[in-house]
Amino acid sequence: MTTRAGRAAAGSQGTDPTWYRDAIIYEVHVRSFADSDGDGVGDFRGLTQKLPYLAALGITAVWLLPFYPSPLRDDGYDIADYTAVHPQYGTLRDFETFLHEAHRRGLRVITELVLNHTSNQHPWFQRARRAPAGSRWRDFYVWSDTPDRYAEARIIFKDFETSNWAWDPVARAYYWHRFYSHQPDLNYDNPAVRRAILRVVDFWCALGVDGLRLDAVPYLYERDGTPCENLPETHAFLKDLRRYVDARYPHRMLLAEANQWPEHAAAYFGDGDECHMAFHFPLMPRLYMALKQGNISPLEWVFERTPAIPENCQWCTFLRNHDELTLEMVTPEEREYMWREYAPDPRMRLNLGIRRRLAPLLDNDQRRIRLLYSMLFSFPGTPIVYYGDEIGMGDNIELFDRNGVRTPMQWDASPNAGFSTASPSLWYAPMISTPPFDPAHVNVADQTGRSDSLYHFLKHLIILRKAHPELSSGEMRWLQTGSRSVAAVLRIEKNRWLCAVHNLLDAVQEIELCFPQAKGSFRDLIEGTLIYHADAGRLTLQPYQTVWFAGTMDQG
Ligand code: NOJ
Repeated sequence: MTTRAGRAAAGSQGTDPTWYRDAIIYEVHVRSFADSDGDGVGDFRGLTQKLPYLAALGITAVWLLPFYPSPLRDDGYDIADYTAVHPQYGTLRDFETFLHEAHRRGLRVITELVLNHTSNQHPWFQRARRAPAGSRWRDFYVWSDTPDRYAEARIIFKDFETSNWAWDPVARAYYWHRFYSHQPDLNYDNPAVRRAILRVVDFWCALGVDGLRLDAVPYLYERDGTPCENLPETHAFLKDLRRYVDARYPHRMLLAEANQWPEHAAAYFGDGDECHMAFHFPLMPRLYMALKQGNISPLEWVFERTPAIPENCQWCTFLRNHDELTLEMVTPEEREYMWREYAPDPRMRLNLGIRRRLAPLLDNDQRRIRLLYSMLFSFPGTPIVYYGDEIGMGDNIELFDRNGVRTPMQWDASPNAGFSTASPSLWYAPMISTPPFDPAHVNVADQTGRSDSLYHFLKHLIILRKAHPELSSGEMRWLQTGSRSVAAVLRIEKNRWLCAVHNLLDAVQEIELCFPQAKGSFRDLIEGTLIYHADAGRLTLQPYQTVWFAGTMDQG
């Protein structure tokens, strides 16, 4: 099928309408992955060439960071044209080829719908600032004669902005922006804006993308006397959007980027009639807290606080992403704790977070990196792997803003790390160059060739995750172990169960596992060794060890 309509129908792979519930998502920036034309910037052709690598890792969906024309002052989240490809990354045809090749390999593709704001370079804004006050075109954005309105709304980019209003000398008025001042917020009270965004949805869904990540979705509407987040109007718009997508583009997924407490994030599922997925932001810092404290309390707390979600929905869980490790969803004391423990150098801190990658955060300790991955893959939710974190790439705190966690992918130990043939002076960002994270020590070629590598550990977890559907959709229960320093969870679906046990201490622990349903003896699915005799009920855990074993309820 070559027509647009044909591709729309063919867009989703297979017939499972809830494919996202047991997906494994790989998050990647086109410009960071592979440069096919030697200009120092990754592109769609390079990414397409690397699809076999992604397929071999076992992930089932690729989430692409924004790749649209943009002044790139917020790495593409400042869009200047919603329906084209940034020339540095290739052409629309290159994107279509990528999509087609991804689908051919059974991989789904999730793209960004940055619907809250545009770049100030977007023609909509240029037109708005020149249009008469009160006109339909002016009202594409949110204007005011004073910078005093909506004073209850917090400032998100605290390190860069002091107000959510900026003065526009052309319009001679203030415009509203929740992020950088060069990112004016669209005005969702204007039906023309809502229609314009639906045209963007049409464009990408008709090409065949499988999912849309709704960037900054809590902030679509503003109302006096409110924090301008999670407003009922926003949920009403999302229900309309969902109806619109369901009616035209079967099996497409909407993912809410709502950095909110569990109950507010869960509201983005509606009654199963809003977003299919939402990020679980509060879980992420608590994985790090539990590990550092050697105590499961933060994890118990967050799951206790997480409401049940509709059958057709799923959380998206992650350890790291392209932003700072956000500490918005913790208490001020917990934030201080996280900063003290994980960001001792003030340069590692940004806004309300930590701008470091997974491996450096954990002092490159392979045991703790694996432990966190094991929790991610055995806890509820669809896991996301951030590019480079499958090989434990490092970061560069010398780079501006969040760029230090967005450096080029390290493919091999050669001087250019296999990323680009251009002289490094032309690269969009410098390669990580200091041991132990430089390409000589951390690269794909080495790790794919070594069975004890982090890459292979993760690949194994992915295989297990696919073989055990109870991990995707099963209920989760904590198991008593007699130790607050062991996170032992049972995932159960129908009569299948999987038990994952995590030693949060750098010390051997002997535990009693209270799990009478498990009868007989079991092998650790990760190491393959015999680990557990149910009659004895005892388990010896090595420092930071993680073990998984599985069975059926009637087994005995
Ligand atoms: C959330 C994105 O993850 C972040 O990278 C971006 O800066 C803001 N939204 C604004 O679009």
